[in-house]
Amino acid sequence: MKTVSLIIDGKEVKARRGEKVLWAALDSGIYIPHLCARRGILAPDASCRLCWVEIEGNAKPVTACTETVEAGMVVNTRGPAALRLARTALELLLASNEVDCASCAKSGACELQKIAAHLKVKLKTRRFRKILRNLKVDSSSPLFIYDPNKCVLCGQCIWVCRQRLGIGALGFAHRGFNRRMTTFGDEPISQTECAECGDCVAACPTGALCFKPAAVKL
Ligand code: FES
Repeated sequence: MKTVSLIIDGKEVKARRGEKVLWAALDSGIYIPHLCARRGILAPDASCRLCWVEIEGNAKPVTACTETVEAGMVVNTRGPAALRLARTALELLLASNEVDCASCAKSGACELQKIAAHLKVKLKTRRFRKILRNLKVDSSSPLFIYDPNKCVLCGQCIWVCRQRLGIGALGFAHRGFNRRMTTFGDEPISQTECAECGDCVAACPTGALCFKPAAVKL
């Protein structure tokens, strides 16, 4: 395997040629906030806009999940312009997200909590006006509950269900503020071809998909 050397936050890092900066950093113990990225994807969606980094010689920050490593590259994950963009993306996300950590089963293991702590953003930030979606919670599955109000639209559950398992019970519907993860025809999950494997719950970085208290992952 051919590798290249680059510098991330002052640390020399070796990465596979063709690797994205995000994975090179994470594999070296350097955290970069991310929600939508998936390893091995040639054309990442880059939809969450959280993984901004600055690269020496570049006028503007870039998203680490789309930027390919290069020999001698110097990456700064803590530059002011990158942090400003990442914080804005997070605060916009939080403005339409039901932040209810006290009663959330994923509290403590939620990626939003981790990202907010990393970026030093309050989960109850008031920078942008809060507009909640008040969507119906789907508890029809015997295994898990889907609360779309806690969904960050990262697409991880959709990808797991479709690409990895070949089922495709989940997908995105609508656009803009109304965009949401749902099922074909907006049917309750129990009425889809969901195999109740629970892999979507494991892939969900927030409390949008949670196992029911009595359920055991198959
Ligand atoms: S992880 Fe890069 S834009 Fe979402």
